Amino acid sequence: KYELRAIISSGVLLSLFFFAVLYNSYSRKIDMPTCVPFEKTFEKSAVKKIDDGLYEIYLVAHMWTFDPEEIEIPAGSTVDFYLTSKDIVHGFHINEEGVNMMAVPGTINKITTKFEEEGTYRFVCNEFCGTGHQNMMGKIIVK
Ligand code: CUA
Repeated sequence: KYELRAIISSGVLLSLFFFAVLYNSYSRKIDMPTCVPFEKTFEKSAVKKIDDGLYEIYLVAHMWTFDPEEIEIPAGSTVDFYLTSKDIVHGFHINEEGVNMMAVPGTINKITTKFEEEGTYRFVCNEFCGTGHQNMMGKIIVK
């Protein structure tokens, strides 16, 4: 009897978490990171203009910086970030955009976000990665 109750309550909890994730991704417009099959091309940093207002950015994290460190895009641009790491696990966090991803060697993580407002968006590594961790940051200039 207790087991049944435990199973039901954990089931309820699980679906709560599930809906919390869905809620975040839809109503708050926070994009969920997705995993992309690994390819060597992503290990070379790049800022690619696909179309007007559409960019692809290949970000490479390594001790203790990001490549590229500074990115400039026009306001209203939608950006696909492809993130990987050359050495150990790093993080990638843009506070204002609700973007939060992990940079894992041998893995490509992708997130799409739109920069509506002009301004400077700082991104930081939010995964402790050694003595240079607190200096690991960059910026996206939107104008
Ligand atoms: Cu890279 Cu902390």
